[in-house]
Amino acid sequence: MTLLTTWSESGPETQVRRTSDPAEIAEALKPLGVRYEQWPIREDVPFDADSDTVFAAYGPEIEKLNAEEGFTTVDVLGLHPSDDPEFPAKAKAAREKFLQEHTHDDDDEVRFFVSGSGIFYLHVNGEVHAVFCEKGDLLGVPRGTTHWFDMGTNPSFTAIRFFHEEDGWIGNFTGSTIASRFPDYDTIAAGYEADKASA
Ligand SMILES: [Fe+2]
Repeated sequence: MTLLTTWSESGPETQVRRTSDPAEIAEALKPLGVRYEQWPIREDVPFDADSDTVFAAYGPEIEKLNAEEGFTTVDVLGLHPSDDPEFPAKAKAAREKFLQEHTHDDDDEVRFFVSGSGIFYLHVNGEVHAVFCEKGDLLGVPRGTTHWFDMGTNPSFTAIRFFHEEDGWIGNFTGSTIASRFPDYDTIAAGYEADKASA
């Protein structure tokens, strides 16, 4: 399951769409050149699985995507709450890295969520699309797309990352403060959980 919320860029009081229907989400994002799809979830993969386990479990899907999109590098990135006294500082630093609006000019940003969740905010054609990605979701943000990413104040996710270029994935920050005007991960996640509980 995932959730797409779309607003006018003027602010979050102008919501134009809110849906958790995967077909609707794919349809809404397609004109932006954004790839959204769901892969069959391997339930036997632990939430904090290591790279080898993830690659073994999702091998067929990874190979198919690489063949279609020509990715040359694939890795696995995980961040989960732990007893490590440095976790809060690490989590804060990781969150803040891409929390402001930016682009990647030399490569797409492509992520598959093995576990946990995160929100990509795409700022395109006068609208902001918040794509809340969860286990089983693949999102491909084309190079040059203005966006930001929020993993929340208590991040938990494992994601497969796909790259065309070894060093092509640098953030170019726009200097805009638009990210601070829209609901953050914690706010959207709380609303989504409440929806699910009452469904
Ligand atoms: Fe990014």
